[in-house]
Amino acid sequence: MEIRKVAVLGAGTMGHGIAQVCASSGFQVALGDVSDVQLAKAVEKVRGSLEKLASKGRLQGEVADVLGRLSVSSSMDSVLDGADLVIEAVPEKMELKLELFRVASAKAPAHAIFATNTSSLSVTEIAADTGRAERVVGLHFFNPVPVMELLEIVRGLSTDDATIEAAVAFAKRIGKDPVVVKDWPGFATSRLGIILGCEAIRMVEQGVASPADIDKAMKLGYRHPMGPLELTDLVGLDVRLAIMEHLFAELGEQFRPPALLRQMVRAGKLGRKSGEGFYTY
Ligand code: CAA
Repeated sequence: MEIRKVAVLGAGTMGHGIAQVCASSGFQVALGDVSDVQLAKAVEKVRGSLEKLASKGRLQGEVADVLGRLSVSSSMDSVLDGADLVIEAVPEKMELKLELFRVASAKAPAHAIFATNTSSLSVTEIAADTGRAERVVGLHFFNPVPVMELLEIVRGLSTDDATIEAAVAFAKRIGKDPVVVKDWPGFATSRLGIILGCEAIRMVEQGVASPADIDKAMKLGYRHPMGPLELTDLVGLDVRLAIMEHLFAELGEQFRPPALLRQMVRAGKLGRKSGEGFYTY
């Protein structure tokens, strides 16, 4: 099946980046969100990122052409109208995702593939109520989306081969290098990435070293591009807490969220997006 129009639901950190890479690769993109303010911010972030890429000669075509392929709307009807691929990028709450796909099932074309950008939740469960479980797949993007090469494609229990083939072709078209993994809590990425972040926060609690020194140790000693606490600030402490809670319930004790993380989220210290996390921005 040829994908022409992509609908992206959710204009937050991940949604705007996903919309950007799709529009940059020639797809018509409709970005939807309940908040018009969030949509306006998303367009500005996309513009800023495109200009940065263009200034380094890394954008194919003109910024204006890419933006011309991106429309935004708070109306689900107009976002889903004619979509061949629907990518959900709303917060990591199963109920929210189920409700969104319930609505999308009624409004999107029958042939459309549904994809979830979940970092850890069950793609199989998300698919179950859509009436098209064989055409539901996980497309797990990484932040910052325009820069990160990986697309983790998650095969739910009912996902068919044609959908996986379409997902792999889509990944290549948007310039990503895919891996296809089984639907299992945390997949191949979050399960490992989260454990590192979890332990780093426990080490801060235990006073082993300062956040800056823990990050420095992993950058200089293990050649990670970013330390685990800087990365937690980039991803969002609330996002990481939600993933940990899910993996703790599904996989056990090693994912128990550190008390410090819970406290920081309660205090509104969510990382870069709130201006403060393990560092101040
Ligand atoms: N748009 C366009 N370009 C961007 C960008 C954006 N949003 N963000 C960064 N860049 C570009 C910069 O302009 C820069 O380009 P040049 O090399 O040409 O100067 C390049 O990317 C590198 O950026 P910086 O120089 O600012 O800083 P850096 O070298 O430290 O790289 C980084 C930044 C790419 C974020 C790097 O630190 C990195 O790879 N960090 C790890 C990120 C990571 O692990 N992400 C996964 C998080 S987990 C997740 O997302 C999934 C989940 O389930 C929650």
